Amino acid sequence: MAGPASRRTGSSNAGRCILFTLIAIIVLLGLIVLITWLVIRPKKLVYTIESGKASGFELHKNHLNASFHFCLKAYNPNRRVALYYDSIQAFVFYDDQRIAFQTLEPFFQPRHNATRLEFKTMGQSVALPNSVAKDLRLEKASGDIELEIRLKARIRFKVGVWKSSHYNLKVFCSNVEIHPNSTRTFKQKECDVDT
Ligand SMILES: *[C@@H]1O[C@H](CO)[C@@H](O)[C@H](O)[C@H]1NC(C)=O
Ligand SMILES: *[C@@H]1O[C@H](CO)[C@@H](O)[C@H](O)[C@H]1NC(C)=O
Ligand SMILES: *[C@@H]1O[C@H](CO)[C@@H](O)[C@H](O)[C@H]1NC(C)=O
Repeated sequence: MAGPASRRTGSSNAGRCILFTLIAIIVLLGLIVLITWLVIRPKKLVYTIESGKASGFELHKNHLNASFHFCLKAYNPNRRVALYYDSIQAFVFYDDQRIAFQTLEPFFQPRHNATRLEFKTMGQSVALPNSVAKDLRLEKASGDIELEIRLKARIRFKVGVWKSSHYNLKVFCSNVEIHPNSTRTFKQKECDVDT
């Protein structure tokens, strides 16, 4: 007589046990994530254009020749996270037109480190839309040319011996003013980061 009833309690006990185990596992995983996050305390990466120069800036009809030389500071404020930059490309834009680009050397950035990246790049006979060439001519005559520098990188994070998979990093440095024709000092520019 007691058979089916006790079997029922038995199975519901087992169900409860599985449920509690699941909850315990979820809580434990949550705690691990929270503690890991508190220990690592990830901070945003900071990029700054520290200097910029252009030379040989010539505009003929709608074709541009120019050489650029930029110095970018990549700052990793994290005390427990290091970074692999497995590939990096730097681009120079004017009015959303790409006018030059450069592939940079991959590097490893230790924890809490600032690394300066220099790149020299050239745009040769770059064809520009009429309106863009016109604006550029006006800005050149004024002595201030406003560019945008963009970086595209594939990065991995390293915490202790653990390495993450790849992430795409995009950096936008807008309103970077260069003065091709004068000795005016360059104004540093902090960039926006998108991971
Ligand atoms: C740009 O450089 C190329 C190669 O040196 C030259 O043929 C061309 O005329 C130059 N264009 C301008 C706008 O200076
Ligand atoms: C940052 O790391 C690079 C590469 O390991 C090293 O050459 C440089 O001295 C470091 N800079 C600072 C400020 O620690
Ligand atoms: C730019 O340089 C040229 C000579 O290379 C000079 O004739 C011109 O006056 C300069 N323009 C400005 C705005 O400094």
